[in-house]
Amino acid sequence: MDDLKAKYLTLIADAADESTLEDLRVTAVGKKGEISLKMRELGKMTPEERQVAGPALNALKDEINSALAAKKAALADAALDARLRSEWLDVTLPARGRGRGTIHPISQVMEEVTAIFGELGFSVAEGPRVETDWYNFDALNIPGHHPARAEMDTFYMHRAEGDDRPPHVLRTHTSPVQIRSMEAMGAPLRIICPGGVYRADYDQTHTPMFHQIEGLALDTDISMANLKWVLEEFVKAFFEVDDVELRFRASHFPFTEPSAEVDIRCSWEGGTLKIGEGDDWLEILGSGMVHPKVIAAGGIDPDVYQGFAFGMGIDRIAMLKYGIPDLRAFFDSDLRWLRHYGFASLDVPNLHGGLSR
Ligand code: PHE
Repeated sequence: MDDLKAKYLTLIADAADESTLEDLRVTAVGKKGEISLKMRELGKMTPEERQVAGPALNALKDEINSALAAKKAALADAALDARLRSEWLDVTLPARGRGRGTIHPISQVMEEVTAIFGELGFSVAEGPRVETDWYNFDALNIPGHHPARAEMDTFYMHRAEGDDRPPHVLRTHTSPVQIRSMEAMGAPLRIICPGGVYRADYDQTHTPMFHQIEGLALDTDISMANLKWVLEEFVKAFFEVDDVELRFRASHFPFTEPSAEVDIRCSWEGGTLKIGEGDDWLEILGSGMVHPKVIAAGGIDPDVYQGFAFGMGIDRIAMLKYGIPDLRAFFDSDLRWLRHYGFASLDVPNLHGGLSR
Protein backbone atom coordinates (compact mmCIF):
# COMPACT_ATOMS: atom_id res chain seq x y z
CA MET A 1 0.00 0.00 0.00
CA ASP A 2 2.88 2.32 0.72
CA ASP A 3 4.27 1.56 -2.73
CA LEU A 4 0.93 2.37 -4.36
CA LYS A 5 0.71 5.59 -2.44
CA ALA A 6 4.25 6.70 -3.32
CA LYS A 7 3.73 5.76 -6.97
CA TYR A 8 0.51 7.71 -7.45
CA LEU A 9 1.50 10.76 -5.44
CA THR A 10 4.65 11.11 -7.56
CA LEU A 11 2.71 10.61 -10.82
CA ILE A 12 0.12 13.20 -9.73
CA ALA A 13 2.78 15.70 -8.74
CA ASP A 14 4.45 15.28 -12.12
CA ALA A 15 1.25 15.52 -14.24
CA ALA A 16 1.66 18.35 -16.72
CA ASP A 17 -1.95 18.87 -17.77
CA GLU A 18 -5.56 18.03 -16.95
CA SER A 19 -5.91 15.10 -19.34
CA THR A 20 -2.88 13.30 -17.83
CA LEU A 21 -4.45 13.91 -14.44
CA GLU A 22 -7.76 12.44 -15.59
CA ASP A 23 -5.98 9.30 -16.91
CA LEU A 24 -4.30 8.93 -13.55
CA ARG A 25 -7.62 9.23 -11.75
CA VAL A 26 -9.07 6.43 -13.88
CA THR A 27 -6.09 4.07 -13.38
CA ALA A 28 -5.97 4.72 -9.61
CA VAL A 29 -9.45 5.24 -8.24
CA GLY A 30 -11.68 4.72 -11.30
CA LYS A 31 -14.17 1.80 -11.29
CA LYS A 32 -11.52 -0.63 -12.54
CA GLY A 33 -8.62 1.29 -11.09
CA GLU A 34 -5.81 -0.30 -9.13
CA ILE A 35 -7.11 0.80 -5.74
CA SER A 36 -10.71 -0.12 -6.52
CA LEU A 37 -9.57 -3.63 -7.47
CA LYS A 38 -7.70 -3.91 -4.19
CA MET A 39 -10.89 -2.94 -2.39
CA ARG A 40 -12.71 -5.83 -4.04
CA GLU A 41 -10.16 -8.21 -2.58
CA LEU A 42 -11.37 -7.22 0.90
CA GLY A 43 -14.15 -9.78 0.46
CA LYS A 44 -11.70 -12.67 0.35
CA MET A 45 -9.94 -11.60 3.56
CA THR A 46 -10.52 -12.81 7.06
CA PRO A 47 -12.45 -10.38 9.23
CA GLU A 48 -9.30 -9.55 11.19
CA GLU A 49 -7.35 -8.77 8.04
CA ARG A 50 -10.25 -6.75 6.70
CA GLN A 51 -10.36 -4.61 9.84
CA VAL A 52 -6.84 -3.43 9.16
CA ALA A 53 -6.86 -3.32 5.35
CA GLY A 54 -10.30 -1.69 4.93
CA PRO A 55 -9.65 1.62 6.71
CA ALA A 56 -6.13 1.76 5.27
CA LEU A 57 -7.44 1.39 1.71
CA ASN A 58 -10.12 4.01 2.30
CA ALA A 59 -7.56 6.42 3.69
CA LEU A 60 -5.35 5.80 0.67
CA LYS A 61 -8.25 6.44 -1.69
CA ASP A 62 -9.08 9.69 0.11
CA GLU A 63 -5.49 10.81 0.01
CA ILE A 64 -5.19 10.20 -3.72
CA ASN A 65 -8.51 11.93 -4.41
CA SER A 66 -7.45 15.04 -2.54
CA ALA A 67 -4.03 15.00 -4.24
CA LEU A 68 -5.87 14.87 -7.58
CA ALA A 69 -8.15 17.79 -6.62
CA ALA A 70 -5.25 19.89 -5.37
CA LYS A 71 -3.25 19.26 -8.50
CA LYS A 72 -6.26 20.07 -10.65
CA ALA A 73 -6.67 23.43 -8.93
CA ALA A 74 -2.97 24.14 -9.26
CA LEU A 75 -3.08 23.38 -13.01
CA ALA A 76 -6.08 25.71 -13.44
CA ASP A 77 -4.27 28.48 -11.57
CA ALA A 78 -1.20 27.99 -13.71
CA ALA A 79 -3.33 28.13 -16.88
CA LEU A 80 -4.96 31.37 -15.72
CA ASP A 81 -1.57 32.86 -14.87
CA ALA A 82 -0.25 31.93 -18.30
CA ARG A 83 -3.29 33.49 -19.97
CA LEU A 84 -3.02 36.67 -17.92
CA ARG A 85 0.65 36.90 -18.85
CA SER A 86 -0.03 36.41 -22.57
CA GLU A 87 -2.97 38.84 -22.65
CA TRP A 88 -1.22 41.50 -20.64
CA LEU A 89 -1.98 45.00 -21.73
CA ASP A 90 -0.12 48.17 -20.91
CA VAL A 91 -2.96 50.52 -20.06
CA THR A 92 -0.53 53.40 -19.68
CA LEU A 93 0.26 53.40 -23.41
CA PRO A 94 -1.02 56.48 -25.27
CA ALA A 95 -4.42 56.16 -27.02
CA ARG A 96 -4.81 55.76 -30.77
CA GLY A 97 -3.95 58.63 -33.04
CA ARG A 98 -6.21 61.66 -32.70
CA GLY A 99 -8.82 62.74 -35.21
CA ARG A 100 -10.12 59.28 -36.10
CA GLY A 101 -13.69 59.58 -34.90
CA THR A 102 -15.69 62.47 -36.31
CA ILE A 103 -19.03 64.12 -35.68
CA HIS A 104 -21.57 63.23 -38.37
CA PRO A 105 -22.73 66.25 -40.43
CA ILE A 106 -26.31 65.71 -39.22
CA SER A 107 -25.26 65.83 -35.58
CA GLN A 108 -23.14 68.87 -36.37
CA VAL A 109 -26.02 70.68 -38.06
CA MET A 110 -28.43 69.78 -35.22
CA GLU A 111 -25.94 71.34 -32.81
CA GLU A 112 -25.59 74.42 -34.98
CA VAL A 113 -29.35 74.88 -35.31
CA THR A 114 -29.82 74.32 -31.58
CA ALA A 115 -27.13 76.91 -30.79
CA ILE A 116 -28.81 79.52 -33.00
CA PHE A 117 -32.33 78.97 -31.69
CA GLY A 118 -31.01 78.71 -28.14
CA GLU A 119 -29.69 82.22 -28.57
CA LEU A 120 -33.19 83.29 -29.68
CA GLY A 121 -34.74 81.87 -26.51
CA PHE A 122 -35.96 78.48 -27.79
CA SER A 123 -35.39 75.35 -25.74
CA VAL A 124 -35.12 71.80 -27.06
CA ALA A 125 -38.05 69.36 -26.79
CA GLU A 126 -38.23 65.75 -27.92
CA GLY A 127 -40.86 63.11 -28.62
CA PRO A 128 -41.05 59.43 -29.57
CA ARG A 129 -40.39 58.18 -33.09
CA VAL A 130 -43.14 55.58 -32.82
CA GLU A 131 -46.26 57.73 -32.50
CA THR A 132 -49.97 57.22 -32.12
CA ASP A 133 -51.99 58.38 -35.11
CA TRP A 134 -53.61 60.92 -32.80
CA TYR A 135 -50.36 62.84 -32.25
CA ASN A 136 -49.04 62.38 -35.76
CA PHE A 137 -52.31 63.21 -37.55
CA ASP A 138 -55.62 63.92 -35.78
CA ALA A 139 -54.30 66.40 -33.22
CA LEU A 140 -52.64 68.23 -36.11
CA ASN A 141 -55.98 68.63 -37.85
CA ILE A 142 -55.37 65.74 -40.24
CA PRO A 143 -58.50 63.60 -39.79
CA GLY A 144 -58.89 59.97 -40.84
CA HIS A 145 -59.36 60.25 -44.57
CA HIS A 146 -57.42 63.44 -45.18
CA PRO A 147 -55.25 63.12 -48.33
CA ALA A 148 -52.23 64.35 -46.33
CA ARG A 149 -52.04 60.91 -44.72
CA ALA A 150 -51.49 59.27 -48.09
CA GLU A 151 -49.15 62.04 -49.28
CA MET A 152 -46.83 61.39 -46.39
CA ASP A 153 -46.12 57.76 -47.37
CA THR A 154 -46.62 56.67 -43.79
CA PHE A 155 -45.08 53.54 -42.30
CA TYR A 156 -47.69 51.81 -40.15
CA MET A 157 -46.81 49.52 -37.26
CA HIS A 158 -48.30 46.06 -36.94
CA ARG A 159 -51.30 45.40 -34.70
CA ALA A 160 -52.22 41.94 -33.40
CA GLU A 161 -54.93 40.09 -35.29
CA GLY A 162 -58.34 41.22 -34.04
CA ASP A 163 -57.04 44.44 -32.46
CA ASP A 164 -59.11 47.13 -34.16
CA ARG A 165 -57.42 50.17 -32.68
CA PRO A 166 -55.64 52.35 -35.26
CA PRO A 167 -52.02 51.24 -35.68
CA HIS A 168 -49.09 53.23 -34.37
CA VAL A 169 -47.04 54.97 -37.04
CA LEU A 170 -43.41 55.90 -37.45
CA ARG A 171 -43.79 59.65 -37.13
CA THR A 172 -43.82 61.28 -40.55
CA HIS A 173 -42.74 64.67 -39.21
CA THR A 174 -41.65 66.33 -35.97
CA SER A 175 -44.97 68.21 -35.69
CA PRO A 176 -46.45 65.75 -33.12
CA VAL A 177 -43.89 67.15 -30.68
CA GLN A 178 -45.80 70.46 -30.91
CA ILE A 179 -48.81 68.78 -29.29
CA ARG A 180 -46.78 66.86 -26.71
CA SER A 181 -44.91 70.02 -25.72
CA MET A 182 -48.11 72.06 -25.39
CA GLU A 183 -49.57 69.34 -23.16
CA ALA A 184 -46.41 69.13 -21.04
CA MET A 185 -45.53 72.81 -20.76
CA GLY A 186 -48.56 74.92 -21.65
CA ALA A 187 -48.20 78.45 -22.97
CA PRO A 188 -46.32 80.71 -23.51
CA LEU A 189 -43.94 78.32 -25.24
CA ARG A 190 -40.84 78.56 -27.39
CA ILE A 191 -39.33 75.27 -28.46
CA ILE A 192 -37.48 73.51 -31.22
CA CYS A 193 -37.67 69.74 -31.69
CA PRO A 194 -34.92 68.04 -33.68
CA GLY A 195 -35.19 64.37 -34.53
CA GLY A 196 -35.63 61.48 -36.94
CA VAL A 197 -38.77 61.06 -39.04
CA TYR A 198 -39.87 58.39 -41.54
CA ARG A 199 -41.53 58.22 -44.94
CA ALA A 200 -41.54 55.46 -47.55
CA ASP A 201 -39.43 57.22 -50.16
CA TYR A 202 -35.99 56.59 -51.63
CA ASP A 203 -33.93 58.51 -54.20
CA GLN A 204 -31.04 60.98 -54.35
CA THR A 205 -32.82 63.49 -52.13
CA HIS A 206 -35.12 61.18 -50.13
CA THR A 207 -34.36 58.42 -47.62
CA PRO A 208 -36.94 56.43 -45.61
CA MET A 209 -35.49 57.92 -42.41
CA PHE A 210 -34.45 61.54 -42.33
CA HIS A 211 -34.32 64.41 -39.85
CA GLN A 212 -36.39 67.48 -39.21
CA ILE A 213 -36.34 70.33 -36.81
CA GLU A 214 -39.66 71.68 -35.68
CA GLY A 215 -40.10 75.16 -34.26
CA LEU A 216 -43.03 76.41 -32.21
CA ALA A 217 -43.61 79.78 -30.56
CA LEU A 218 -46.85 80.47 -28.70
CA ASP A 219 -47.74 83.68 -26.92
CA THR A 220 -50.47 86.30 -26.71
CA ASP A 221 -49.12 88.59 -29.43
CA ILE A 222 -47.29 86.57 -32.08
CA SER A 223 -47.69 87.33 -35.75
CA MET A 224 -46.35 86.22 -39.11
CA ALA A 225 -43.86 89.10 -38.85
CA ASN A 226 -42.20 87.37 -35.88
CA LEU A 227 -41.94 84.17 -37.90
CA LYS A 228 -40.30 86.01 -40.77
CA TRP A 229 -37.77 87.76 -38.54
CA VAL A 230 -36.86 84.59 -36.64
CA LEU A 231 -36.34 82.64 -39.85
CA GLU A 232 -34.22 85.39 -41.39
CA GLU A 233 -32.02 85.56 -38.31
CA PHE A 234 -31.71 81.81 -38.40
CA VAL A 235 -30.77 81.56 -42.07
CA LYS A 236 -28.15 84.33 -41.80
CA ALA A 237 -26.57 82.72 -38.76
CA PHE A 238 -26.73 79.20 -40.16
CA PHE A 239 -25.30 79.92 -43.60
CA GLU A 240 -22.89 82.45 -42.09
CA VAL A 241 -23.82 85.25 -44.50
CA ASP A 242 -24.65 88.89 -43.74
CA ASP A 243 -27.66 89.14 -45.92
CA VAL A 244 -30.25 86.71 -47.19
CA GLU A 245 -33.46 87.12 -49.04
CA LEU A 246 -36.30 84.84 -48.06
CA ARG A 247 -39.37 84.25 -50.17
CA PHE A 248 -42.60 83.30 -48.44
CA ARG A 249 -44.76 81.31 -50.83
CA ALA A 250 -48.40 80.73 -49.95
CA SER A 251 -48.91 77.04 -49.31
CA HIS A 252 -51.15 74.66 -47.43
CA PHE A 253 -50.68 72.54 -44.33
CA PRO A 254 -53.66 71.28 -42.31
CA PHE A 255 -51.99 72.40 -39.07
CA THR A 256 -51.22 76.01 -40.01
CA GLU A 257 -53.38 78.83 -41.32
CA PRO A 258 -52.11 80.76 -43.18
CA SER A 259 -49.27 78.54 -44.37
CA ALA A 260 -46.11 79.42 -46.19
CA GLU A 261 -43.22 77.57 -47.71
CA VAL A 262 -39.96 79.42 -47.45
CA ASP A 263 -37.32 79.65 -50.17
CA ILE A 264 -33.94 81.32 -49.98
CA ARG A 265 -32.28 83.23 -52.80
CA CYS A 266 -29.28 81.40 -54.14
CA SER A 267 -27.15 80.77 -57.16
CA TRP A 268 -25.87 77.51 -58.60
CA GLU A 269 -23.30 79.18 -60.83
CA GLY A 270 -20.39 76.92 -61.77
CA GLY A 271 -22.08 74.03 -60.02
CA THR A 272 -21.53 75.40 -56.53
CA LEU A 273 -24.30 76.72 -54.38
CA LYS A 274 -24.07 80.31 -53.12
CA ILE A 275 -26.59 81.49 -50.57
CA GLY A 276 -27.92 85.07 -50.67
CA GLU A 277 -27.14 85.91 -54.31
CA GLY A 278 -28.23 84.87 -57.79
CA ASP A 279 -31.56 84.18 -59.47
CA ASP A 280 -32.53 80.80 -58.07
CA TRP A 281 -34.75 79.94 -55.13
CA LEU A 282 -34.35 76.95 -52.91
CA GLU A 283 -37.11 75.58 -50.69
CA ILE A 284 -35.95 74.92 -47.14
CA LEU A 285 -39.00 74.68 -44.90
CA GLY A 286 -42.73 74.72 -44.31
CA SER A 287 -44.29 77.11 -41.83
CA GLY A 288 -47.32 79.11 -40.81
CA MET A 289 -49.51 80.37 -38.00
CA VAL A 290 -50.57 77.42 -35.84
CA HIS A 291 -54.18 76.42 -36.58
CA PRO A 292 -56.54 77.17 -33.65
CA LYS A 293 -57.69 73.53 -33.68
CA VAL A 294 -54.07 72.42 -33.13
CA ILE A 295 -53.65 74.81 -30.21
CA ALA A 296 -56.88 73.48 -28.72
CA ALA A 297 -55.74 69.87 -29.25
CA GLY A 298 -52.65 70.77 -27.20
CA GLY A 299 -54.93 71.82 -24.35
CA ILE A 300 -54.38 75.56 -24.77
CA ASP A 301 -57.03 78.23 -25.36
CA PRO A 302 -56.66 79.45 -28.96
CA ASP A 303 -58.64 82.61 -28.14
CA VAL A 304 -55.83 83.69 -25.81
CA TYR A 305 -52.74 82.24 -27.45
CA GLN A 306 -51.59 82.12 -31.02
CA GLY A 307 -48.23 81.41 -32.59
CA PHE A 308 -46.11 80.24 -35.44
CA ALA A 309 -44.58 76.89 -36.31
CA PHE A 310 -42.15 75.65 -38.89
CA GLY A 311 -40.61 72.36 -39.95
CA MET A 312 -37.25 72.18 -41.67
CA GLY A 313 -35.32 69.29 -43.18
CA ILE A 314 -32.01 68.99 -41.32
CA ASP A 315 -30.40 66.67 -43.84
CA ARG A 316 -31.44 69.08 -46.58
CA ILE A 317 -29.82 72.16 -45.03
CA ALA A 318 -26.76 70.06 -44.15
CA MET A 319 -26.41 69.08 -47.82
CA LEU A 320 -26.73 72.72 -48.80
CA LYS A 321 -24.31 74.13 -46.29
CA TYR A 322 -21.63 71.50 -46.69
CA GLY A 323 -22.03 70.75 -50.40
CA ILE A 324 -23.06 67.11 -50.01
CA PRO A 325 -24.67 65.96 -53.26
CA ASP A 326 -26.39 62.68 -52.31
CA LEU A 327 -28.58 62.30 -49.24
CA ARG A 328 -28.23 58.51 -49.19
CA ALA A 329 -24.51 58.79 -48.40
CA PHE A 330 -25.46 60.22 -44.98
CA PHE A 331 -26.61 56.77 -43.91
CA ASP A 332 -24.10 54.50 -45.68
CA SER A 333 -21.56 54.54 -42.80
CA ASP A 334 -18.71 54.67 -45.32
CA LEU A 335 -15.64 55.56 -43.24
CA ARG A 336 -14.04 57.49 -46.10
CA TRP A 337 -17.16 59.64 -46.41
CA LEU A 338 -17.38 60.12 -42.65
CA ARG A 339 -13.75 61.22 -42.45
CA HIS A 340 -14.20 63.60 -45.33
CA TYR A 341 -17.45 65.24 -44.20
CA GLY A 342 -17.18 64.68 -40.43
CA PHE A 343 -16.35 67.35 -37.86
CA ALA A 344 -13.81 67.50 -35.06
CA SER A 345 -15.48 66.29 -31.89
CA LEU A 346 -14.15 69.07 -29.67
CA ASP A 347 -15.38 71.95 -31.83
CA VAL A 348 -18.80 72.38 -30.28
CA PRO A 349 -20.71 74.88 -32.44
CA ASN A 350 -21.56 78.19 -30.79
CA LEU A 351 -22.39 81.62 -32.16
CA HIS A 352 -19.40 83.36 -30.60
CA GLY A 353 -16.62 81.00 -31.56
CA GLY A 354 -17.97 80.32 -35.06
CA LEU A 355 -20.53 77.69 -35.96
CA SER A 356 -18.56 75.54 -38.36
CA ARG A 357 -14.84 76.09 -38.14
N1 PHE B 1 -44.75 69.07 -40.73
C1 PHE B 1 -44.54 69.67 -42.04
C2 PHE B 1 -43.84 68.64 -42.94
O1 PHE B 1 -43.26 67.74 -42.48
C3 PHE B 1 -43.71 70.91 -41.97
C4 PHE B 1 -44.36 72.01 -41.18
C5 PHE B 1 -44.17 72.14 -39.82
C6 PHE B 1 -45.17 72.93 -41.82
C7 PHE B 1 -44.77 73.16 -39.10
C8 PHE B 1 -45.78 73.96 -41.12
C9 PHE B 1 -45.57 74.06 -39.77
O2 PHE B 1 -43.86 68.73 -44.13
